[in-house]
Amino acid sequence: MTAHEDEEQGEVFFDESDIIDEIDVDEEGCMPFCLNCVFLVIFCYFTCIFFCVWVNSDLPDAEDDIVEDSDDSIHIFTGHTGELYAVACSPTDPVLVATGGGDDKGFLWKIGHADWASELQGHTDSVSSLAFSHDGQLLASGGFDGLVKVWDTSGNLKSTLEGPGGGIEWIRWHPKGHLILAGSEDCTVWMWNADNGSCLNVFSGHGASVTCGDFTPDGKTICTGSEDATLRIWNPRSGESIHVVRGHPYHTEGLTCLSISSDSTFAVTGSKDGSVHVVNITTGKVVSSWASQTSSTEGNPESIECVSFAPKFPWAVSGGMDRNLTIWDLQNSSPRFICNHEEGVTCLAWLGASKFLATGCCDGRICIWNCLSGECVETFKGHEHAIQSLSVASNLEFLVSVSMDGTARVFEIRNFR
Ligand SMILES: *[C@@H]1O[C@H](CO)[C@@H](O)[C@H](O)[C@H]1NC(C)=O
Ligand SMILES: *[C@@H]1O[C@H](CO)[C@@H](O)[C@H](O)[C@H]1NC(C)=O
Ligand SMILES: *[C@@H]1O[C@H](CO)[C@@H](O)[C@H](O)[C@H]1NC(C)=O
Repeated sequence: MTAHEDEEQGEVFFDESDIIDEIDVDEEGCMPFCLNCVFLVIFCYFTCIFFCVWVNSDLPDAEDDIVEDSDDSIHIFTGHTGELYAVACSPTDPVLVATGGGDDKGFLWKIGHADWASELQGHTDSVSSLAFSHDGQLLASGGFDGLVKVWDTSGNLKSTLEGPGGGIEWIRWHPKGHLILAGSEDCTVWMWNADNGSCLNVFSGHGASVTCGDFTPDGKTICTGSEDATLRIWNPRSGESIHVVRGHPYHTEGLTCLSISSDSTFAVTGSKDGSVHVVNITTGKVVSSWASQTSSTEGNPESIECVSFAPKFPWAVSGGMDRNLTIWDLQNSSPRFICNHEEGVTCLAWLGASKFLATGCCDGRICIWNCLSGECVETFKGHEHAIQSLSVASNLEFLVSVSMDGTARVFEIRNFR
């Protein structure tokens, strides 16, 4: 309670006229019996209860403000009515953002234009993934309804791509053309031509949900990871599986995340088993392996949730439920820095090709790390629940986050270049 409220209470309880009898507490023995005192005590007791109930019922916002952290965001998008799972910033329009979530909706909206939003209607289950084509002309949305929908940048539906028999886990565009790749819970991966909606290939072979995947940046190969603890390397044209990476020394539990180096030579994967492995895509051989300390010493490993190669440095990074971001040196196969968080790390995003990286956490915080020094240089507060995804605007001025709290928030990152 504030000092001001205490004063008000004082006024309620101790008006001069209410003081009927003064009692010397040092006096020996019992209090002198006084009927008026009993009434005063009872009166005060009920007044106090009444006052407490009134304060608690009428002023919840004021109390929240006292407890809650500040909000560092410069824009909040509140169009969704459920948890948010996906966010994508346009690669060509620095203010255009797409978000999707548990309300079965996607939205296109603009940073700094609170009056404009375009609703992406038609999914009948959660919108789990979003991606813009590399030329910025098209947006694809994937849903747990098993559908992929293609939209123009005004939010007009161009086509609906069907085929998978289970929810869509992720979507990627070919680095050069209008081809869409999507992984499904039904163990399959689909590739379509987004311009005319034709299915180009179905990649089958995984034995469980396909949880992560991508084209190599040269567009010549596809890598996919699955709940079945394997990585598959595919020929996009023939649909053939070139390599299946499994067994020792690879993951022992389902894969959760994957990233491919900018020269298309290595894939880094993370898993529920708490380990990170780097695979040579040409040979399908594991070239580096790291297990977090907690997973190797304790019985219960903590899942790796996000991995990425650094755009400009010979590093890979991983984040997970052990609350650490680890920056790995690829040349020495050893950790450069282990960066602690207060809660689990769910997602990460490089701020362009700089040394800075953003992590999103289960407690709703976002940390900006200088990966050369291993220091947290900024913490962005505002979200009330776990961050699910992060995306960086094409002008590198804004970081957009989506959270289980039902909001998308925009933070300024122009100081981190
Ligand atoms: C879709 O477009 C591709 C390439 O432009 C073409 O080869 C294919 O025949 C088209 N499919 C349909 C169904 O129009
Ligand atoms: C991957 O393996 C192939 C075959 O052994 C080798 O020629 C190539 O150099 C390896 N790639 C890298 C980047 O080390
Ligand atoms: C990760 O951080 C925790 C503290 O949150 C620490 O106990 C643990 O050892 C760290 N993991 C590694 C691999 O250092």
